[in-house]
Amino acid sequence: MKDLLEELKTIVGSNHVQTTGDLLRFEEDWRKRNRGKALAVVSPKTTEEVAQIVKACVQANVSIVPQGGNTSMVVGAIPNESGTQVLLSLQRMNEIRSIDAENLTIVVDSGCVLQNVQLAAEKVGFLFPLSLGSQGSCTIGGNLSTNAGGTQVVRYGNARELCLGLEVVTASGDIWHGLTGLRKDNTGYDLRNLYIGSEGTLGIITAATLKLYPLPAAKLTAWAAVPNIEKAVKLLGLAHQTLGPALSGFEMMGQFALGLVDQHFPQLRVPLWKDSAYCVLLEASDSESESHARAQFETLMQTAFSDEIITDAVIAESIAQAKALWLIRENITMAQAAQGLNIKHDISIPVSRIAEFVEHTDALITQKINGAKIVNFGHLGDGNLHYNVQAPLGLDHKDFLKIHEHEINTLVYDCVKEFGGSISAEHGVGSLKVETLKHYKDPTALHLMRLIKGALDPKNLMNPGRVIQPE
Ligand code: FAD
Ligand code: MLT
Ligand code: ZN
Repeated sequence: MKDLLEELKTIVGSNHVQTTGDLLRFEEDWRKRNRGKALAVVSPKTTEEVAQIVKACVQANVSIVPQGGNTSMVVGAIPNESGTQVLLSLQRMNEIRSIDAENLTIVVDSGCVLQNVQLAAEKVGFLFPLSLGSQGSCTIGGNLSTNAGGTQVVRYGNARELCLGLEVVTASGDIWHGLTGLRKDNTGYDLRNLYIGSEGTLGIITAATLKLYPLPAAKLTAWAAVPNIEKAVKLLGLAHQTLGPALSGFEMMGQFALGLVDQHFPQLRVPLWKDSAYCVLLEASDSESESHARAQFETLMQTAFSDEIITDAVIAESIAQAKALWLIRENITMAQAAQGLNIKHDISIPVSRIAEFVEHTDALITQKINGAKIVNFGHLGDGNLHYNVQAPLGLDHKDFLKIHEHEINTLVYDCVKEFGGSISAEHGVGSLKVETLKHYKDPTALHLMRLIKGALDPKNLMNPGRVIQPE
């Protein structure tokens, strides 16, 4: 190990190989569920350095855990407790490499923070639409490795759909130069889409070519109260019909989730939540003009009101008001974190079956655990719910997880299966859902995934223990 550490210092400089000091931010996951111990935290600056690090680790038979912003919700980016894994932090690889305005593409290092990519695009008059509550710290490499979703998927798709090319250091330390900005390229197997969503288990993404879009001429945001999820789904259908491709955000928030925001961040002033079971946050991004957008948006809200789909609504009158509404939605995660650990489920269900799923699953949970709190919110426009379960009042949150996590997970995921859904919509598998995936995913798909893992990472050194266990 001493030889390896010396070699790593030669590659990146001794300042960038940390073995002592405060490594908490690298070793503990965002939700504070687990803390691991790294052999060293190694922070390269270039792709060539990443390739040399991988070669050195392969030679020494040492496994590598790639890490971007360490905002994973599924414990995917921290080392295990053995003290034998290299934590490869991509944070120093943070250059915007180039922008091609005619091709509508931007090429960035994988350690670029998402918000910096959004700002770089905006500076030259374009939109990079990926938007997550963690955008101030998560990185493009992490976004692509988890195929992140977020709040604009209904219009622009998830991270995979926003990526045209990759540069990857493979598990043997070779560099795949795939930074094409091509929208058409049918030359065999789709390696880009194999690495996207692979959560660092097949190689390390060092750079990406991403799609840019014209900035919308106008954005409108509204907050509506609905009596139940069925009505929220009706509102979604009406929004698709009325706004067409202008619909760019459709988020749903349950009363209990909003109550947590109200409790922990009263300054955010949550509207309309006290008298309605759910609220919906809608956004339209119009390519024509503010007046066109507003006319369409007002038609939508008036129809929804007269058809008794919504009971009340506010339309943001300024950018500041729109931001304030979005801030409420984005702070549900922080409010939950302030409340204590809960049992998280990031699931997707066909939109047409979501109302039935929620009614059915809510009833089973409350039958099983008297007083359990359901923190239900998410990206309804994509059929993606964060269907979380919190301890009943008076019960310690950690004890609740210890006693009930397994049975609640089984209950929820059995329902997800019954309703034709997925056990991970956007957060990935990490280490938290490895066993769940094994249980619920199609066995042939699992077998093919293991073959791919074995072929691309034969020594199982790339983020082992995440996503899938080799045969
Ligand atoms: P990390 O957490 O560092 O890593 C995530 C995974 O990717 C790990 O398996 C890691 O090993 C791997 N990895 C990281 N970088 C690389 C690389 N360069 N090459 C290969 N593998 C790599 N997620 C959503 O999808 N939608 C949301 O709306 C959303 N909102 C969030 C809000 C908050 C407040 C928080 C804390 C998280 C949220 N997340 C959301 C989850 C998380 O932010 C995303 O999964 C994000 O994409 C992770 O990026 P990261 O840079 O932090 O990756
Ligand atoms: C969100 O949509 O806010 C995120 O995915 C984070 C979470 O699930 O808490
Ligand atoms: Zn989400």
